[in-house]
Amino acid sequence: MEAIKTRRSIRRYADREVERALVVQALDAARHAPSASNIQPWEFVVITDTGTKEKLSRVHKHSAFLKGAPVVVVVLGNERLSEHHFPVDCAAAIENLLLAAHGLGLGCCWVAVYSTRSTEREEAVRGVLEVGEEYRIVAMVGMGYPGEVPKPRKMKELDEIVHWGSFRSPN
Ligand SMILES: Cc1cc2nc3c(=O)[nH]c(=O)nc-3n(C[C@H](O)[C@H](O)[C@H](O)COP(=O)(O)O)c2cc1C
Repeated sequence: MEAIKTRRSIRRYADREVERALVVQALDAARHAPSASNIQPWEFVVITDTGTKEKLSRVHKHSAFLKGAPVVVVVLGNERLSEHHFPVDCAAAIENLLLAAHGLGLGCCWVAVYSTRSTEREEAVRGVLEVGEEYRIVAMVGMGYPGEVPKPRKMKELDEIVHWGSFRSPN
């Protein structure tokens, strides 16, 4: 509960290299996520090369901070293996990755790539990383030692979002 409640999106990073063993632990957490029929359609591309991070940072305006991230993890979903469930399976893996990284003292931020609106962002990443056609690109995650302390943000209260017994029951 502590890791879940204290995790925040971190978009600025300390000028410090991330030990490969920590990245491996976070990826190991990701692969233990639940997935529909246990298909595990996820794969991960780990980027530390400055030029590649720079290209990924240009995918859209909300990915600009990636150029300052020591590590970028690109999350792929194999659409041939799991046509209908790959986005949510990969989302579960990403959340595991974020929480594990936070528990290890790292900061991360999820960057949207997959969208039902357009494949434009996916095609931009596909071009940079030469990702095969059977894979969809779900997200990118910036990772590093935190270089900021985000302002508190408001979370909805349980009584705004939980319905006991039926949707129309009084809270
Ligand atoms: C599906 C998804 C897509 C997101 N895309 C971006 C993004 O493109 N750029 C970004 O800076 N943050 C992105 N975020 C991070 C959210 O802005 C952040 O999780 C939210 O504001 C809540 O803040 P917190 O993570 O600190 O709790 C994304 C988060 C999710 C779950």
